[in-house]
Amino acid sequence: MDLAQTIADWFTREKRDLPWRRPGFPAWGSLVSEFMLQQTPVIRVIPRLEEWLVRWPTPADLAAAPASEAIRAWDRLGYPRRALALHGAAVAITERHGGVVPADVDELLALPGIGPYTARAVAVFAYGHRHPVVDTNVRRVLARAVRGVALPGPPSTKRDLAEMEELLPEDRELSVLVNAGTMELGAIVCTARAPRCELCPIAAACGWRAAGYPEPEPDAPRP
Ligand code: ADE
Repeated sequence: MDLAQTIADWFTREKRDLPWRRPGFPAWGSLVSEFMLQQTPVIRVIPRLEEWLVRWPTPADLAAAPASEAIRAWDRLGYPRRALALHGAAVAITERHGGVVPADVDELLALPGIGPYTARAVAVFAYGHRHPVVDTNVRRVLARAVRGVALPGPPSTKRDLAEMEELLPEDRELSVLVNAGTMELGAIVCTARAPRCELCPIAAACGWRAAGYPEPEPDAPRP
């Protein structure tokens, strides 16, 4: 079976039950969760996300609140500038997109606080589109499995996206699972410091494993 299908099947079996993976989770919730997950672990994001979506269930609800309220509600998530950017994104979505989170990557990229990762994560996970989604975890999985090295080099959006694109099947639904599964593999199996290769569905195809787990170059940046 090919790598993409193996990752998709593993994800379908093993994925964590997270709020943004539940059927019917709103696109706005995906956007808020991606903002929160940019600097905060999943376990601390979940309660905050749920409170946030009860208080501001749509972009228009957040846009109507003062930015200072968003900053206060962000509270212990860290980096209050992210809250300000999320409020700015809600205002832009309300004014420019009729209150509907856009599904188009370029439109998402034009919103405050949204970079290449978040734009594609929303287009893919909220709307089921076919794009490569690359975060730190994905970069590490690709470095190991595909390139056979311990750690990814410095980020390069263009190269990283091209590398993930290689792995993606044409089928849209399958490509969503491959994106999500590769992220999940990096988050819970192919971790930076203590990878659990015995649990890895693609260990047999892993270049890093086949090469005998070579160490990173001494001056390689830590992930
Ligand atoms: N699913 C979609 N985006 C995610 C993220 N940033 N972390 C964990 N699971 C996710």
